[in-house]
Amino acid sequence: MVEFEAFSPGVVKLFGEHAVVYGHPAVAVAIDRGVRVVCREGSGLRVRTVSTISGSVEWIGDKAVVESQFFAYIEAAYRLARERWGVSGINAEVVSELPPSIGAATSAATVGAFLKCAAGLAGAELSAEELAEMIYSVEKLVQGAASRMDGSVTAMGGVLLVRGSERVRLNVEIPELLVVLTPRRGTTRSLVAMVRELRERMPEVVDSVFATISSIVNRGVRCLESGDYRCVGELMTMNHWLLASLGLSNAQVDSLVRALSGAVYGAKMSGAGGGGVVVALPYTDSARAIAEGFGYEAVRARVWNGTRRGD
Ligand code: PMV
Repeated sequence: MVEFEAFSPGVVKLFGEHAVVYGHPAVAVAIDRGVRVVCREGSGLRVRTVSTISGSVEWIGDKAVVESQFFAYIEAAYRLARERWGVSGINAEVVSELPPSIGAATSAATVGAFLKCAAGLAGAELSAEELAEMIYSVEKLVQGAASRMDGSVTAMGGVLLVRGSERVRLNVEIPELLVVLTPRRGTTRSLVAMVRELRERMPEVVDSVFATISSIVNRGVRCLESGDYRCVGELMTMNHWLLASLGLSNAQVDSLVRALSGAVYGAKMSGAGGGGVVVALPYTDSARAIAEGFGYEAVRARVWNGTRRGD
């Protein structure tokens, strides 16, 4: 029986989340931890999940039993694969190397890996740009609203500068990162809505925070291009405190960012906030030990440039 395997990376944001929703630039990085899907032809949709995500969904005729939003992504991706490539049935095993819903783009990565696997089964060509658009349409359908950032980065890999629908690949080297997984309260949707409400009440204040974040991104790109990682780290930390000023961080994450300051060039929350991923540059064993001392799982991550299995 024909079997395919595909990997799609998780994503961390070095600079610019939230401001990107209002047309400002952001820099996001694909990492070598993400979601792997192994798929075979089958009848209908059958999904088995491994590691951090549990549950299963079976597609019977036109009815799907969706146990959680996670499966809604796979179901929507399956529908798209059926429409686009005439795929009639898939047995998929989904292995996530990152916990879901903490701001590491696991939903985009799951959809990305599933669609790559489905395209493989169907013998269809799928460019990174097409894949990015397909992930975006699935995320929009399931979440109601989405930005193109996570879908683009998980589909294209590397380090991307994102602004509106524009994506520019930055040909830069980045040392290994420390990715700390802290518990998250609140969804991307609710945190984005909170910022919108704050901006409605005090537009000039929130817009000036975003303008400063925008300057951080622009300066950050120059520092990345010149390999000045000390500067990149300093700007990441500044970006963290600006996000915290909008109420997007929490006490534990703030303490962690402070505690890491002696061991790394910089650290910040990554993604929508409310806890979740904290990214620090560069990876050091002592920084990892600090994060573990807080009781958090912490992993070493490299930039993913499309060189891992199944891509
Ligand atoms: O936490 P995540 O991975 O869903 O990232 C959200 C990033 C935001 O800029 C806050 C929202 C967006 O859609 O860009």
